[in-house]
Amino acid sequence: MDDMVSRGKQALPPRYYTDPAVFGRQREQLFFKTWQFACHESRVPGTGDYYAFSILDQDLFVIRQKDGSLRCFYNVCQHRGHPLVEREGRARLLVCPYHAWSYGLDGKLKGAHGTKGQAGFDRSKICLTEVRLDSLAGFLFVNLDAEAPSLAESFPGVEDAILAFLPDIRERAFAQEHEAEEFCNWLIAVENYNECYHCRVAHPTFASGVIDPQSYDIQPFSADAKSLKHSAKAQSGETAWYDTSGSDYASFYIWPAFSLQLYPSGLVNSYHWRPVDVANTVVHRTWYSKEGVVDDSLQRVIDLDRDTTFAEDLKLVKRIQRGLGSRGYSPGPLVLNPDGGIDSEHSIAALHDWVREASDT
Ligand code: FES
Ligand SMILES: [Fe+2]
Repeated sequence: MDDMVSRGKQALPPRYYTDPAVFGRQREQLFFKTWQFACHESRVPGTGDYYAFSILDQDLFVIRQKDGSLRCFYNVCQHRGHPLVEREGRARLLVCPYHAWSYGLDGKLKGAHGTKGQAGFDRSKICLTEVRLDSLAGFLFVNLDAEAPSLAESFPGVEDAILAFLPDIRERAFAQEHEAEEFCNWLIAVENYNECYHCRVAHPTFASGVIDPQSYDIQPFSADAKSLKHSAKAQSGETAWYDTSGSDYASFYIWPAFSLQLYPSGLVNSYHWRPVDVANTVVHRTWYSKEGVVDDSLQRVIDLDRDTTFAEDLKLVKRIQRGLGSRGYSPGPLVLNPDGGIDSEHSIAALHDWVREASDT
């Protein structure tokens, strides 16, 4: 960190957040080559359960196989291109809504009416296009790049650290989710998430309800994983949103667009960001609990978070997008406190190194 401080670092030039050409390179070099969050495995618990989602304009779905394993396919019929499924559901066969070609859960074409005896029509050669799928402590990620390093190679040690922090995390299931358009570039949202320099200014209730801001710190997880680990002591006392006495706070940000948050006392939640275009992103805020049950205490935390921290960040990031388009803005110095802590943006400096690598030609 010392050389970072002595060298000094400026905020990134605005084109990284506003230039469609930069975003176009990130689409190919970043979002189509790195591990993107799909959903939690509990969203597809039974045979034939599927969950559809998108990475930019690429539509995909995860589906549970008869043997209990999970696979991911592009959500596109191999006949003339209609999507096969929407949102989530359960199917024994995947039947295309256009001409009713049907596919097995394994993606193999099963039926195409009117093709019997047609010369050259070989049903066995037609199959949905599969995408790599992997799990990190029950959180499913996909990668459109067949050559990319595996999830475990990309984030060595991260799953073990999550399991060490919360050994029963696999008992959590999807409970509730809400989402919002952010009207900003995805990197603005991710940077905002990955620094707490603004927490005491902009998030007074988070800083008094969940964590002790004095103890907040964000560090690169390791030299060989593009991950940032946030840690803090739990907030206690009468301002706490719930009984936080069980364990402290940790968050594991997984480059580029997912973060797993372990709130005090094992309250699991996540953020994931789905870029829409250079100036818009949809953020998903998801909560998990044992058997997916939302009791009054959890609902209160979800509502408080949505009405305070989440809403406060939506306002900030939208305004930053506008500010970065201002002709009067020139990038200022990052605040790089050698001791880290809440008043430091060295996590932003790490993000900038990673984004330059993924965006520059
Ligand atoms: S596009 Fe799917 S059956 Fe024709
Ligand atoms: Fe924030």
